[in-house]
Amino acid sequence: MQSSGAIGVFDSGVGGLSVLHHIRQTLPHERLIYVADSGHVPYGDKSPEYIEQRSHTLARFLVGQGADAIVIACNTATAAAVASLRSLFSIPIVGMEPAIKPAVAATKSRVVGVLATVGTLESARFAALLERYAGEVEIVTQGCPGLVEQVELGELNSAKTRALIERYIAPLLDRGADTFILGCTHYPFLVPLIRDVAGENIVLVDTGAAVARQLQYRIQTELPQRIEEDTSAQFFTSGDAAQASRIMSALCDDTVAAQRLPREFI
Ligand code: DGL
Repeated sequence: MQSSGAIGVFDSGVGGLSVLHHIRQTLPHERLIYVADSGHVPYGDKSPEYIEQRSHTLARFLVGQGADAIVIACNTATAAAVASLRSLFSIPIVGMEPAIKPAVAATKSRVVGVLATVGTLESARFAALLERYAGEVEIVTQGCPGLVEQVELGELNSAKTRALIERYIAPLLDRGADTFILGCTHYPFLVPLIRDVAGENIVLVDTGAAVARQLQYRIQTELPQRIEEDTSAQFFTSGDAAQASRIMSALCDDTVAAQRLPREFI
């Protein structure tokens, strides 16, 4: 029997739109539901338990809306909640984590910088990734408090955002990193500024495209009966709908009308 479904995507805020962009390119015929947990952003300084609980709430909302696959478009939420989400929901759940393996393959200086939230860098999943893939390459980690907030405000090129990026990138360049991992889904929106500060030769590694390919594979193998009949996209926020619509429209380069989540999911 055939069934229609939707892909549910969530993040602490608008960062996951950088992943949604790749999902739309890879799977253009899917119905998409995006949730920005803007009422609780940033996740990076919250406890793993808090993020896990929010992730469960958002996943329940998405499944209730018809999602039959979920993408955790957030490194921090993946670290805190992917394991429990997979035990609670029997649908494909695709998470994301800093791309150590491709960065280690790309570096020539043998030094890789990781820009991510403190929550991601302190997680057991990140420690396991390093253990598995870093090998002889030196990995320099840099938590970036405040950067997510700048993207949430749509300040992709302000003096404050530039000052933060200069501060966070300087130690990586000082150590000789020639490759930076964008370990937070908000950071791809800052690529022009990062390149401006770090130079055009720096290699920037983002996981959005790989996540979209992994989602495509999971859908093809686990949901083969699915029909694609509705290619709409809906956007929800646990924060202010007007503010979310404004920033999302700017980041998507399209008109986005975000709706506020029902009260029980806020
Ligand atoms: N986009 C989230 C990530 O990928 C950001 C988290 C935050 O809200 O601090 O980690």
